[in-house]
Amino acid sequence: MAKTQKVSFKLNGKPVEATVEARELLIYTLREKLAHTGPHIGCETSHCGACTVDLDGMSVKSCTVLTVQCEGAELTTIEGMEQGGALHALQQAFHEEHGLQCGYCTPGMITRAYRLLKENPNPSEQDIRKGIAGNLCRCTGYQNIVKAVQSAAKKLAAAR
Ligand code: FES
Ligand code: FES
Repeated sequence: MAKTQKVSFKLNGKPVEATVEARELLIYTLREKLAHTGPHIGCETSHCGACTVDLDGMSVKSCTVLTVQCEGAELTTIEGMEQGGALHALQQAFHEEHGLQCGYCTPGMITRAYRLLKENPNPSEQDIRKGIAGNLCRCTGYQNIVKAVQSAAKKLAAAR
Protein backbone atom coordinates (compact mmCIF):
# COMPACT_ATOMS: atom_id res chain seq x y z
CA MET A 1 0.00 0.00 0.00
CA ALA A 2 1.29 3.48 -0.89
CA LYS A 3 2.56 5.61 1.95
CA THR A 4 0.33 8.55 2.90
CA GLN A 5 0.79 11.68 4.95
CA LYS A 6 -1.36 14.40 6.44
CA VAL A 7 -1.27 17.85 4.87
CA SER A 8 -2.84 20.90 6.51
CA PHE A 9 -3.56 24.24 4.86
CA LYS A 10 -6.13 27.02 4.79
CA LEU A 11 -8.76 26.71 2.11
CA ASN A 12 -10.86 29.83 1.55
CA GLY A 13 -9.99 30.98 5.06
CA LYS A 14 -10.78 27.70 6.84
CA PRO A 15 -8.23 25.20 8.13
CA VAL A 16 -8.45 21.85 6.33
CA GLU A 17 -6.54 18.61 6.46
CA ALA A 18 -6.19 15.81 3.93
CA THR A 19 -4.40 12.47 3.93
CA VAL A 20 -2.57 12.13 0.65
CA GLU A 21 0.04 10.12 -1.19
CA ALA A 22 3.20 12.05 -2.07
CA ARG A 23 2.22 11.95 -5.76
CA GLU A 24 -1.33 13.30 -5.29
CA LEU A 25 -2.20 16.40 -7.30
CA LEU A 26 -3.86 19.38 -5.68
CA ILE A 27 -6.78 19.43 -8.14
CA TYR A 28 -7.63 15.86 -7.13
CA THR A 29 -7.47 16.66 -3.40
CA LEU A 30 -9.63 19.75 -3.83
CA ARG A 31 -12.29 18.07 -5.92
CA GLU A 32 -12.37 14.52 -4.56
CA LYS A 33 -11.44 14.94 -0.91
CA LEU A 34 -12.40 18.49 0.01
CA ALA A 35 -15.58 18.82 -2.10
CA HIS A 36 -14.34 21.94 -3.89
CA THR A 37 -15.39 21.26 -7.47
CA GLY A 38 -15.13 24.87 -8.64
CA PRO A 39 -11.63 24.38 -10.07
CA HIS A 40 -12.13 22.24 -13.18
CA ILE A 41 -9.97 19.61 -14.82
CA GLY A 42 -9.23 20.31 -18.46
CA CYS A 43 -5.91 19.38 -20.01
CA GLU A 44 -4.09 18.14 -16.88
CA THR A 45 -0.86 19.37 -18.47
CA SER A 46 -0.70 23.00 -17.31
CA HIS A 47 -1.99 24.44 -20.57
CA CYS A 48 -5.67 25.39 -20.18
CA GLY A 49 -5.91 27.05 -16.77
CA ALA A 50 -9.32 25.52 -15.93
CA CYS A 51 -7.83 24.31 -12.63
CA THR A 52 -6.36 27.69 -11.58
CA VAL A 53 -6.37 28.45 -7.86
CA ASP A 54 -4.64 31.10 -5.76
CA LEU A 55 -1.81 29.68 -3.64
CA ASP A 56 -0.05 32.04 -1.22
CA GLY A 57 -0.74 35.02 -3.44
CA MET A 58 0.11 33.39 -6.77
CA SER A 59 -2.05 31.95 -9.50
CA VAL A 60 -1.16 28.29 -9.91
CA LYS A 61 -2.48 25.47 -12.03
CA SER A 62 -3.57 22.92 -9.50
CA CYS A 63 -3.19 20.03 -11.97
CA THR A 64 0.57 20.44 -11.68
CA VAL A 65 0.94 21.18 -7.96
CA LEU A 66 1.44 18.34 -5.50
CA THR A 67 -0.82 18.58 -2.47
CA VAL A 68 2.15 17.94 -0.17
CA GLN A 69 3.62 21.24 -1.43
CA CYS A 70 0.67 23.06 0.17
CA GLU A 71 1.52 22.33 3.80
CA GLY A 72 0.82 25.54 5.77
CA ALA A 73 -0.32 27.42 2.66
CA GLU A 74 -3.31 29.69 2.08
CA LEU A 75 -5.44 28.67 -0.86
CA THR A 76 -8.33 30.47 -2.49
CA THR A 77 -10.62 28.89 -5.04
CA ILE A 78 -13.64 30.27 -6.83
CA GLU A 79 -15.72 29.09 -3.87
CA GLY A 80 -13.88 31.59 -1.67
CA MET A 81 -14.58 34.66 -3.82
CA GLU A 82 -18.01 35.61 -2.54
CA GLN A 83 -18.19 37.27 0.83
CA GLY A 84 -21.22 36.96 3.10
CA GLY A 85 -23.44 35.84 0.23
CA ALA A 86 -22.46 38.73 -2.07
CA LEU A 87 -20.70 37.94 -5.32
CA HIS A 88 -17.17 39.24 -5.79
CA ALA A 89 -17.01 42.18 -8.22
CA LEU A 90 -15.42 39.86 -10.79
CA GLN A 91 -18.20 37.29 -10.48
CA GLN A 92 -20.80 40.04 -10.84
CA ALA A 93 -19.00 41.54 -13.83
CA PHE A 94 -18.70 38.19 -15.63
CA HIS A 95 -22.45 37.82 -15.15
CA GLU A 96 -23.28 41.35 -16.33
CA GLU A 97 -20.87 41.41 -19.27
CA HIS A 98 -21.68 37.86 -20.41
CA GLY A 99 -18.08 36.84 -19.81
CA LEU A 100 -18.91 33.16 -20.21
CA GLN A 101 -20.56 30.78 -22.59
CA CYS A 102 -20.31 27.13 -21.51
CA GLY A 103 -18.66 28.25 -18.25
CA TYR A 104 -15.99 25.57 -18.17
CA CYS A 105 -13.08 28.00 -18.10
CA THR A 106 -14.86 30.52 -15.87
CA PRO A 107 -13.76 29.49 -12.34
CA GLY A 108 -10.12 29.43 -13.44
CA MET A 109 -10.50 32.62 -15.44
CA ILE A 110 -12.04 34.54 -12.51
CA THR A 111 -9.50 33.17 -10.04
CA ARG A 112 -6.68 34.26 -12.36
CA ALA A 113 -8.28 37.69 -12.87
CA TYR A 114 -8.58 38.03 -9.08
CA ARG A 115 -4.79 37.81 -8.71
CA LEU A 116 -4.22 39.97 -11.80
CA LEU A 117 -6.28 42.80 -10.27
CA LYS A 118 -4.48 42.45 -6.94
CA GLU A 119 -1.15 42.85 -8.77
CA ASN A 120 -2.37 45.53 -11.15
CA PRO A 121 -5.61 47.24 -10.03
CA ASN A 122 -5.77 49.43 -13.14
CA PRO A 123 -4.82 47.18 -16.05
CA SER A 124 -4.96 48.18 -19.70
CA GLU A 125 -6.70 45.91 -22.19
CA GLN A 126 -3.28 44.58 -23.19
CA ASP A 127 -2.38 43.93 -19.55
CA ILE A 128 -5.56 41.89 -19.14
CA ARG A 129 -5.01 39.91 -22.33
CA LYS A 130 -1.44 39.18 -21.30
CA GLY A 131 -2.50 38.42 -17.71
CA ILE A 132 -5.02 35.77 -18.75
CA ALA A 133 -2.86 34.30 -21.50
CA GLY A 134 -2.43 31.10 -19.49
CA ASN A 135 -6.17 30.54 -19.33
CA LEU A 136 -7.85 29.22 -22.44
CA CYS A 137 -11.51 29.68 -23.31
CA ARG A 138 -12.52 27.03 -25.83
CA CYS A 139 -15.71 29.01 -26.49
CA THR A 140 -13.40 31.90 -27.48
CA GLY A 141 -15.36 34.47 -25.50
CA TYR A 142 -12.30 36.59 -24.84
CA GLN A 143 -13.86 39.92 -25.80
CA ASN A 144 -16.45 39.77 -23.04
CA ILE A 145 -14.02 38.24 -20.57
CA VAL A 146 -11.75 41.27 -21.05
CA LYS A 147 -14.74 43.62 -20.71
CA ALA A 148 -15.77 41.87 -17.49
CA VAL A 149 -12.30 42.25 -15.98
CA GLN A 150 -12.23 45.93 -16.99
CA SER A 151 -15.66 46.47 -15.44
CA ALA A 152 -14.66 44.74 -12.20
CA ALA A 153 -11.45 46.79 -12.02
CA LYS A 154 -13.50 50.00 -12.26
CA LYS A 155 -15.95 48.87 -9.58
CA LEU A 156 -13.18 47.79 -7.23
CA ALA A 157 -11.36 51.11 -7.75
CA ALA A 158 -14.57 53.06 -7.01
CA ALA A 159 -15.09 51.07 -3.82
CA ARG A 160 -11.59 51.87 -2.51
S1 FES B 1 -6.32 21.21 -16.13
FE1 FES B 1 -4.73 22.31 -15.21
S2 FES B 1 -4.02 23.64 -16.74
FE2 FES B 1 -5.54 22.45 -17.73
S1 FES C 1 -16.88 29.81 -21.65
FE1 FES C 1 -16.67 27.85 -22.55
S2 FES C 1 -14.55 27.45 -22.33
FE2 FES C 1 -14.75 29.51 -21.74
